[in-house]
Amino acid sequence: MVSPFEVLQIDADADDAEVERAYRQRVKETHPDQGGSISEFQQVQSAYTMLTGEDVEDGHPDDNAGRTDTSRVEYLNYEVLDDHGWNFDDENLFEKATAVDLPPADHGQFLVHPHESLLEAAENRGFVWPYACRGGACANCAVGVLEGELEMPVNTILPSEMLECGIRLSCNGFPITETMKVVYNIKHLPRLDDLRLPPRPFEDAYDD
Ligand code: FES
Repeated sequence: MVSPFEVLQIDADADDAEVERAYRQRVKETHPDQGGSISEFQQVQSAYTMLTGEDVEDGHPDDNAGRTDTSRVEYLNYEVLDDHGWNFDDENLFEKATAVDLPPADHGQFLVHPHESLLEAAENRGFVWPYACRGGACANCAVGVLEGELEMPVNTILPSEMLECGIRLSCNGFPITETMKVVYNIKHLPRLDDLRLPPRPFEDAYDD
């Protein structure tokens, strides 16, 4: 059996920070969406779990503590803010969005069922939201939570100052409040750019 250190390509005496860095790098290299394979990607996740005790294999919370049956999420596309000259921290952001006639891809509501991540729920309702690794190791799927809360079982990328500003990952973020308001597609916010992987289907869908 290959040792977790070999899988993550680190020395056996690597410290926590080195394990974390190596995990992020290996997730990028082995994710199926980035040219890797499912078995390689799972091997990397298992290695990380073995070394840290953190279960990242499905990214879903182990229990439903604090979860509601369903959450109603109102969403807004960050690109709309640019187009209208609105700011991320506008108090009436969603009221402004309601007052103008935005297409459903940019503004609306949907229900998130238990065990659906926010990204999964958006995709299951036919929306195309940005993502890359789906493993908690990039910022492509980041959303800004303006109301309510998303629980993230795995986060190896967002620093505490971003968490304090309400930035969360939608690929493994699970609503724990009955209602939420989120701005999605915020990957171009300052400092998030550096944490991104190469563009994935969201950009492909909107190019041309
Ligand atoms: S898509 Fe990479 S952390 Fe969500």
